Amino acid sequence: MEVTVLMLIVISVVLILLVRALWQTWDSSRTMAGIPGSLGWPIVGETFSFIAEFSSPAGIHSFIKKRQERYGKVFKSSVLGRFTVFLTGSEASKILLTGKDGMVSLNLSYAGRQVLGPTSLLHQNGEAHKRLRRLIAEPLSINALKKYFNFINSLAVETLDQWHGRQILVLEEASTFSLKVISNMIMSLEPTGEEQEKFRANFKIMSTSFSALPIKIPGTAFHRAMKARNRMIEMLDSIIAQRRTGDNFQQDFLESLVKKHSKDGYGEEDDDKLTDTQLKDNILTLLVAGHDTTTAALTWIIKFLEENPAVLERLHEEHREIHSAGSGLTWSDVNNMPYTNKVISESLRIATVIPWFSRKAAEDFKIDGYLIKKGWSLNLDVISIHHDPETFLDPLKFDPSRFDDKLKPYSYLGFGSGPRMCPGINLAKIEICIFIHHLVRRYKWKTLEKDNAVLPTLIRMPRNKYPIMVEPL
Ligand code: HEM
Repeated sequence: MEVTVLMLIVISVVLILLVRALWQTWDSSRTMAGIPGSLGWPIVGETFSFIAEFSSPAGIHSFIKKRQERYGKVFKSSVLGRFTVFLTGSEASKILLTGKDGMVSLNLSYAGRQVLGPTSLLHQNGEAHKRLRRLIAEPLSINALKKYFNFINSLAVETLDQWHGRQILVLEEASTFSLKVISNMIMSLEPTGEEQEKFRANFKIMSTSFSALPIKIPGTAFHRAMKARNRMIEMLDSIIAQRRTGDNFQQDFLESLVKKHSKDGYGEEDDDKLTDTQLKDNILTLLVAGHDTTTAALTWIIKFLEENPAVLERLHEEHREIHSAGSGLTWSDVNNMPYTNKVISESLRIATVIPWFSRKAAEDFKIDGYLIKKGWSLNLDVISIHHDPETFLDPLKFDPSRFDDKLKPYSYLGFGSGPRMCPGINLAKIEICIFIHHLVRRYKWKTLEKDNAVLPTLIRMPRNKYPIMVEPL
């Protein structure tokens, strides 16, 4: 008898969910009728072709490109349970990125929201976002970063010492390097040892869970990620407690936030203070937002340099001059590498490590003549913006000199634009400039496998991890 009642309850719940999903599909096809494109099958939408293209050599952009060819630069779809409008072009870019009058908010996956925590910068909007950003971006300013120069410089030299005459998977090396930099900067974690290993293991589980299904039962990726988050939070709790007692003073990011801004518990709102929850959620946010992006950028740059010997030669000139001017690399050298900065921009343009920016419409508005309704998910296709031949002549050509002149606003989005522009831009550029300086001064390298396929991850990275053979110059 009890089993029959239970079965009836399960069947009713499934039926209710099914009817709700069918109703949503019907309602969305009605409200989105003015937008070209297809919402695919009821419930699953176009998720299967989305996943299939995600794992294709060109990655998710082939899903977008095929539909742009059919429907134009604004089209609708339904993927991973979301009714979404894909957009591209400078008008869409300007409207979505300036977020004028709170028109849009960031649209993170459910798993991403849970893993980063409720007070992450990525979930805040308007004034709350502005305030939080001011507090956490302060230690990422150029002046505040100066004190980490020696650590990053020594770590780059030590990492590259290991490359001599060896076969290297650049993506793995770049990942280890950037995680060691950011974990030391944020909480003075030593680059080797048990703590670093535990930290890296937990971090990897968390950061790969963003596209996981939101099912939190033992064995699922989402469940593992939430466990990893809890272990990271415990670790941060213990470090914060030590800092408060003054037992373990360090000149790191955490110390500056604990001293200047943090207060215990949840407390009342205070404009210049973060709660402990905000502090921890946002440290996790910086780690996640800063790691894969820097890893991918560094790997693509090393790959593009090998594929473009004339650019590499010009870069050599810049770094030879730095070398002949003094004995070692200095902080002022790092802030004076104009050509290296153009190489970084051109690499981020061609590779576009964050292929689309996700937003949610906070009110009804128009883009390119189409009415966008409140609540819709919007994806700005950045790859097409970065490959628009009207802005970037011969867009597939790797040519850092395109950045000699000022570009049209919203046409280059390597670090984003507007109120959500990357707050880690200075740190990322410093890490890359230091690493590239030592690399090109010491070594030449050859790829061991030519392959342009990308990994099926949210951040675009070479699928083969870019294997190279390294030799001294
Ligand atoms: C080369 C490396 C990097 C690239 C290419 C990159 C790129 C970007 C882009 C394009 C955005 C805007 C996304 C959007 O508008 O939806 C962004 C935002 C963000 N980035 Fe970076 N980033 C890099 C490194 C870093 C680092 C090192 C950190 C932290 C230390 C960081 C932290 C963040 C955060 C917290 C946001 C969200 C800002 C907000 O919502 O207000 N990034 N990044």
